[in-house]
Amino acid sequence: MDRGSQLIRLLADGELHSGETIAEQLGMTRAAVWKALRKACDRQGLTVESLRGRGYRLAAPLELLDAEQILAALSPRGRRAVARLEIHEEIDSTNRHLMREAATGAPSGTLCLAERQSAGRGRLGRPWISPFGANLYLSMLWRYGAPPAALGGFSLVAGAVVADVLRRVGVEGLALKWPNDLLWGRRKLGGMLLEVAGEAQGPCALVVGIGINLRMAPDHGRAIDQPWVDLAEVLGGPGIGRNALAALVADALIDALERFGREGLAPFLVLWDAFDAFRGEQVRLLIADRESRGRVLGIAADGALRLDTSDGERRFHAGEVSLRREDEVEP
Ligand code: BTN
Repeated sequence: MDRGSQLIRLLADGELHSGETIAEQLGMTRAAVWKALRKACDRQGLTVESLRGRGYRLAAPLELLDAEQILAALSPRGRRAVARLEIHEEIDSTNRHLMREAATGAPSGTLCLAERQSAGRGRLGRPWISPFGANLYLSMLWRYGAPPAALGGFSLVAGAVVADVLRRVGVEGLALKWPNDLLWGRRKLGGMLLEVAGEAQGPCALVVGIGINLRMAPDHGRAIDQPWVDLAEVLGGPGIGRNALAALVADALIDALERFGREGLAPFLVLWDAFDAFRGEQVRLLIADRESRGRVLGIAADGALRLDTSDGERRFHAGEVSLRREDEVEP
């Protein structure tokens, strides 16, 4: 661990730490402490306060990710299924990383989390704003014997599973926008990005990436190109910890990945429907440059969106498709 990371870890509790104690603990001079601390915090977008004669503290405490805590909070089944747990202080994208790892033989059940993503990826080529220590950025690699085409439906499963986890920790009023945008009060609380690699006949490697906003500083939030919300606002109070949430999401995801392998999408459709934000609504569907309009009829058995258009019922598959209410403006 480099100096900067050690310093941030020391100050993560949000308490005051005297320069002298830090210097002693890390074997550096007091002057070097302030310099290194400022550099580390600048790099990670954190605010550090220096109180004359008293020491340093972070403007807000951080719950850093902790592999032991996450593993301890997993169910025995989840623990068995996690073949490898990686926690990165900083990475371009947990999804991209696992896609690279998949190509070099990483095992099914590789779970990857990061404190920060420097190039977090959203759907449709959008960036996913991923500041340090603030939210959840989690990806899971799962191997299936089936061909990649059979896995499209998991896109919906991931959304339904995360919505269900959040409902269980007390979030009310969650909604899913097809295929898997997680909304609260019409604002984005989280999203899933699925990537698949493999031969047309199978087997294949699926990477499921999940991003949930836990506590997004307004500075970072300004970079998001759509209305957003975080769990801190939704739940108020201390809310839920990052490690606890990571374990709950990983457990639910493992359960769903296993079940999907055995039974496909069918058992998850009811859950998805329970969070359907748009059923019966007039929408616009943007497919690259083209636009379709219609009323949402629901989800087909293969996960396609059913739309009642002027040409009758049409079905759309996830991919380069973006859904908007009639009254919503494209960001
Ligand atoms: C969306 O656009 O709604 C999907 C967002 C997915 C973000 C997550 S964060 C963890 C994983 N790594 C990425 O780069 N993206 C996904």
